[in-house]
Amino acid sequence: MFHPRGPTLVELARQALSSTERGYDLLATKFDVTPFRTPDVLLAPFFAHVFASGPVTRALDVACGTGAQLRHLAPHVTDRLVGVDFSQGMLDEARRRLADVPRLELLKADARDLSFDAEFELVTTAGAFGHFVGEDEDRLLDGVRRALAPKGRFVFLTTPYPGVTNPGFWLAKGFNAAMHVRNALVQPPFVMFYLTFTWPEVQATLSRHGFSTSARDGLVEGRLGRVVAVTAEKRP
Ligand SMILES: C[S@@+](CC[C@H](N)C(=O)[O-])C[C@H]1O[C@@H](n2cnc3c(N)ncnc32)[C@H](O)[C@@H]1O
Repeated sequence: MFHPRGPTLVELARQALSSTERGYDLLATKFDVTPFRTPDVLLAPFFAHVFASGPVTRALDVACGTGAQLRHLAPHVTDRLVGVDFSQGMLDEARRRLADVPRLELLKADARDLSFDAEFELVTTAGAFGHFVGEDEDRLLDGVRRALAPKGRFVFLTTPYPGVTNPGFWLAKGFNAAMHVRNALVQPPFVMFYLTFTWPEVQATLSRHGFSTSARDGLVEGRLGRVVAVTAEKRP
């Protein structure tokens, strides 16, 4: 559908009718040729910005998928690099694609129950905020905060909430409505919603979870317009 080597419409439908975890297991081998993988044209300038102040010793990528961010993190992390995802299929792909990366730990875990304790200077995530809604958002952010060492940084890319004249707004609203219907009719749910963690709205959420935020706008242009690089520093 997206690419000759990508998933067919039938495969996408089967994935969408599975749980979130199982859906990604099914998609894993074809994930990198879908638009769901965060593209390198966004990640390269983003990580150049993140590491402008130099390398870090320990970093964690949450919901790492097939390793898009880990590939960019690896050259800048000196001691310990960890990727966490709850889909074994995605982790298997990441392991295959990142076989050349030293000191890489790939762990199967639910990002809503992160069990790290002040172990990382840097935590990243990309392309996954839509999977954490309602109380899951709080569980994710509590775990990220706990995983960070004092003054550690949680960094990610997001977008501003689009205006109603932006076609992306209507696409996202239509997709979200379809997911609500799907989840009302089929169990287990596939949790994936757009227009989450938008900037500056996410600032209040991060502040509530003990982060001070700053944002860098105009670093890079996404498919549907502006992308904002957010740095959330753990407050004491
Ligand atoms: C759209 S993919 C993004 C993957 C990668 N970060 C990227 O940007 O290409 C979303 C990923 O989030 C993972 N995920 C979703 N919910 C999760 C959860 N509760 N715990 C751990 N991983 C989760 C999925 O398994 C999937 O690998």
